[in-house]
Amino acid sequence: MRIDIITILPELLEGPFSASILKRAQEKGLAEIHLHNLRDYSQHKQKSVDDYAFGGGAGMVMSIEPIDNCISFLKSQRNYDEVIYLTPDGETLNQGISNQLSLKENLILLCGHYKGVDERVRQHLITKEISIGDYVLSGGELAAAVLTDSIIRLIPGVLNDETSALSDSFQDHLLAPPVYTRPAEYKSWDVPEILRSGNLKAIETWRHEQSLERTKKRRPDLYEKYSK
Ligand code: ADE
Repeated sequence: MRIDIITILPELLEGPFSASILKRAQEKGLAEIHLHNLRDYSQHKQKSVDDYAFGGGAGMVMSIEPIDNCISFLKSQRNYDEVIYLTPDGETLNQGISNQLSLKENLILLCGHYKGVDERVRQHLITKEISIGDYVLSGGELAAAVLTDSIIRLIPGVLNDETSALSDSFQDHLLAPPVYTRPAEYKSWDVPEILRSGNLKAIETWRHEQSLERTKKRRPDLYEKYSK
């Protein structure tokens, strides 16, 4: 899979992609992440990428021209499955969306700033709009990093133990059960006996019960989906 990210702050995204799982996914050749500085596609002398809003009002708007130039250049190189705009008024990200996107070949992510992008970008160039939650970030970069991470970890071979992505919280509308590691006894806070019993069937049943209980208590909305 290849992800092209269009941003005015590429340096903000270099960190998250150069460590741990995302770094390894790229080294193994399972994922390619390319950062594109939007200013490189501006025709202006000052490399500006924004302008005043028609009709007035506070805040600048990202111009269509550099964005169109960058997207057109990328599209001239290969076909893209989706051109995604990260925005607080997009569809709220969930595991199902990440699962679907992890099956794609090529994605473009556009990070917004200021008061957003010229509406014509959304009308004519964007195929999907995603929010990572009901709060406003300073720009789309951190949202793009979250989305990229959630997609790439699902690509087969990226995680060492492939089953661990399948047993993540949300994969089956249930939260994951609690986990423990050594020491079994610490300050009299003991690991549940059943996990030390070696009885795999009983452990599986216990984990499922814990998942159900946790989901019912913490996320009744998810529990309702699960039990339907
Ligand atoms: N840009 C600013 N806030 C955002 C959010 N919550 N999700 C996606 N992109 C954003």
